[in-house]
Amino acid sequence: MSSGPLHLHNGGTSVILDFVGSSPRVEYWGTYAGELSAGDLASFVDSQVPAVPGGGIDEPLVVGIHPAHAAGWFGRPGVEGHRAGGNSWSPSFTHVSIKVDGPDGRHAKQGFVAEAATITSADRSAGLTLVDCIEVTDEGLVRVQSSITNTGPDPFELAGIVTAFPVPEGATQIIDFAGRWTKERTEQRTAFSVGMHLREGRRGRTGHDSAFVLCVGEEACGYSEGEVWGLHVAHSGNNVAYAERVATGQKVVGAGELLQSGEVTLETGATYTSPWVYFAHAQGLDALAAQFHRYLRSHEHAALTEGQLVTLNVWEAVYFEHDYATLARLAEIAASIGVERFVVDDGWFRGRRDDTSSLGDWYVDEEVWGDRLAELSVHVRRLGMEFGLWFEPEMISLNSDLAHEHPDWILGVRGRRPIPERHQYVLDLSNPRAYAWLVERIGAVISYLGVSYIKWDHNRDLIDAASPATGQATIRNQTRAVYRLMDAIKAAHPGLLIESCASGGARIDLGILEHTDRVWASDCIDPHERVEIQMGTMQLCPPELLGSHVGAPRSHTTGRTHDLSFRATVAMFASFGIEWNLLDVNSVELADLAAWVDRYKEYRGFIARARIHRAVHAGCLAVIGAVAPDKSQALYGLFQMERPATWPLGAMRLPGLDTTARYKVELIDPIVSARGRDVLSPWMSEPIELPGALLVNAGIRVPLGEVDQSAILRATRMS
Ligand code: GLA
Repeated sequence: MSSGPLHLHNGGTSVILDFVGSSPRVEYWGTYAGELSAGDLASFVDSQVPAVPGGGIDEPLVVGIHPAHAAGWFGRPGVEGHRAGGNSWSPSFTHVSIKVDGPDGRHAKQGFVAEAATITSADRSAGLTLVDCIEVTDEGLVRVQSSITNTGPDPFELAGIVTAFPVPEGATQIIDFAGRWTKERTEQRTAFSVGMHLREGRRGRTGHDSAFVLCVGEEACGYSEGEVWGLHVAHSGNNVAYAERVATGQKVVGAGELLQSGEVTLETGATYTSPWVYFAHAQGLDALAAQFHRYLRSHEHAALTEGQLVTLNVWEAVYFEHDYATLARLAEIAASIGVERFVVDDGWFRGRRDDTSSLGDWYVDEEVWGDRLAELSVHVRRLGMEFGLWFEPEMISLNSDLAHEHPDWILGVRGRRPIPERHQYVLDLSNPRAYAWLVERIGAVISYLGVSYIKWDHNRDLIDAASPATGQATIRNQTRAVYRLMDAIKAAHPGLLIESCASGGARIDLGILEHTDRVWASDCIDPHERVEIQMGTMQLCPPELLGSHVGAPRSHTTGRTHDLSFRATVAMFASFGIEWNLLDVNSVELADLAAWVDRYKEYRGFIARARIHRAVHAGCLAVIGAVAPDKSQALYGLFQMERPATWPLGAMRLPGLDTTARYKVELIDPIVSARGRDVLSPWMSEPIELPGALLVNAGIRVPLGEVDQSAILRATRMS
């Protein structure tokens, strides 16, 4: 066993690790560092040892991926916890063994090319063993999962584990996300100063306001420029993500699961395993996002490369007003314009007439539906569409048969019910009886109705989420149980797809995406808001995983009115759907909508493989570009978000094209001037041909548009 430094690399990313005197420590992560000899590695590690300044500890500060107070780190510790009486509170890990894996999964010898390592460290006097799996994926993401085992004689109360990577001096900006219901993933920026930028998610679900992908970057970093370093926690329960700068100059970004007091007690021999924490480095936020997109596309969602089916969801069409005749007619119109999946939302189950009751009673409502929901499903499938259904499995209404029969299945600290949210409470999924009951009920409904798609909702935060049996916080158990439940239901119903929804987009993360197939980005389908929400969400998710629906002309959440072309263009750069009562739509508008459905079908496969480029041109025109991996074609959605102080806008560069090729550029959906008297630039009425180098470096003029108008520009390689 050697303890020399280790070079892991894959997908254009290098990680140089050292082990001496700490949990593994990252000396470098970023662009591939080239072939490095053992001597190079040793010299490099030496070159990173800091000087010892006066007024501090007498040794160079060594910062492991779980920074240790015992090593003189005065920032956030990586491992926190204690034993009864307060022992073992300041662990100091030294490495015990290292297992390294090569590109084909072989156990590689140290010093050879490796893309994964499993490093075991221990603090024998604290009675703790730590195993860190560090992998560099084919896409260049670095991910770490840590397991801690109590080897001591008495229980260890784990307060939490975070994994932290160093970031260089040049990282001066912090970029992450805020948000709320109907306005998710709003980017925010702040200076990276001494102290901690701390984002704690304590909602028991990822949250509308989650940090999502926390990045740090160079001063002028943006979508396409500046070095950026980002992280993300693949977990849908409570999470922490932070950027920290300490007085001795070190800057780190760290993340992990956030545990509640007493949530994890490790008995002797017991192990806690953390969620994977993902780290990414790139030039620009788009390149960083592209690593996550490629990762998601290569793993769970390979079946989606042709793009998602066009979905009609009935929620904003009928809300709780369910009746067979209306929905059957809606299905017929949907099928006639090319919809491929018809989803019946909330309101179909026993007693559910509004959002105050019945969650948990997963039986088709006898009064409203009788056998006719099954009939509707047959009708939908005969029309050539798939049938989807809404569930909110983790929830329970007090006014339900389930709550009357099993009040002890509801999460809550002893002696009081949690504050209700949307009139509802949360089922204890770690109770095997509650879990088994859900498997049986959901399975029975799926089989009875021929459901091939579930919109899986989660409409409240977890407050006082304690196990009714023990009183202990159970958010971690709940989160892991829902993953298991999704997997069990999918395994029993091969081909079933699940959309992750949580009051809109409050459960979007790489954890849930290992068990689901599409996410609902927001309950706000006002396209103006959606442009920003989708651009933010694309920091992690590729467009084909983001549900985006064309709603009624007047948005139900904001009251603003928009043209169909704007509504449809926003949905086109995502997983396109409709959420609009088509019974109220005239034949001209229906024909227009059908044309948009056709256009989406033409491009969805292309968009599902494309590299995404985002931009805000002249501070007012949002741009979402989708460029083929071989750069043979690109589509740019242009969205006028504000009225500029001066116009017309200057030339807009087209990011991502091949600078050695020629392109034909055309507007395939021109902005229609609201005034009707503007003179277009010559190229806007007829395609032009230009070298890619000019399109990338000089750009072209864009159409004049008023707020909330859009255009689609297509570039096709000629040579
Ligand atoms: C949540 C979802 C909506 C809809 C309703 C139904 O708010 O985000 O899309 O499904 O629940 O109650």
